Amino acid sequence: MPQIDDEVPRHIAIIMDGNGRWAKSRFLNKAAGHRAGAQALRKLATEAEKIGVKYLTVYAFSTENWKRPQDEIETLMNLLRDYIQQYIDDTKKNDMRISVIGETARLADDLQAKIKELEEMTAAKKGLRIIIALNYGGRDEIARAARKAAAMVMSGSLSISAITESYFESFMDTAGIPDPDLLIRTSGEMRVSNFLLWQCAYSEMYFTDKLWPDFTISDLKEAIAQYKGRDRRFGARKE
Ligand code: IPE
Ligand code: IPE
Ligand code: MG
Repeated sequence: MPQIDDEVPRHIAIIMDGNGRWAKSRFLNKAAGHRAGAQALRKLATEAEKIGVKYLTVYAFSTENWKRPQDEIETLMNLLRDYIQQYIDDTKKNDMRISVIGETARLADDLQAKIKELEEMTAAKKGLRIIIALNYGGRDEIARAARKAAAMVMSGSLSISAITESYFESFMDTAGIPDPDLLIRTSGEMRVSNFLLWQCAYSEMYFTDKLWPDFTISDLKEAIAQYKGRDRRFGARKE
């Protein structure tokens, strides 16, 4: 029986940054960096599941990443296609449940269909839950949630005073998913870049200089060790 440590954060969110710099340092093109990044994620997910992580939310493509050169966007979308297809092919072999958050309507039709297929195929799985943020922006998510609530108020099915924090949460892409306990960002940048703005209100932050393709399970364990030493107060006074 593997030992499950109950102090392991239940939900870890990761801003997987540094693929470009990783490639540059090796005199490779950006595509090679993104490919290495996708491999790092696949490996890490399996290892994270083994140590007892229940939810892993990863930032794969932001609403701002459309500003990048067209060929890089195409490379990223093709990698995501392959990544999702691999999980579709492997659904029998593993117990992971995979879903996507973000404004998926802007993605190519075939990619949307693949996402739907994978979500449906894994919906009843009980293992690690992987949440891929794809064309995701925290502000966009909040604005979309506000539009859903406003439409219900306009139609008379929701009263303004019923829009509490917990009810509003039900309009978010992450409805029903507990907030991240730990947010990790690789590559030395210390910002959230529009990731999970609502959900990370009380997440512990961990920044590392490691570039994403070099991030391994031992780096994740180091982040978890630091997390365990943190005192989470949620605004309250302890003693
Ligand atoms: C992160 O790596 C992946 C995405 C944003 C899709 P980057 O491509 O941002 O890597 P750097 O920041 O240029 O090194
Ligand atoms: C954040 O990284 C987005 C993803 C990792 C998908 P960026 O590389 O896009 O963020 P900035 O531009 O450095 O803030
Ligand atoms: Mg970057």
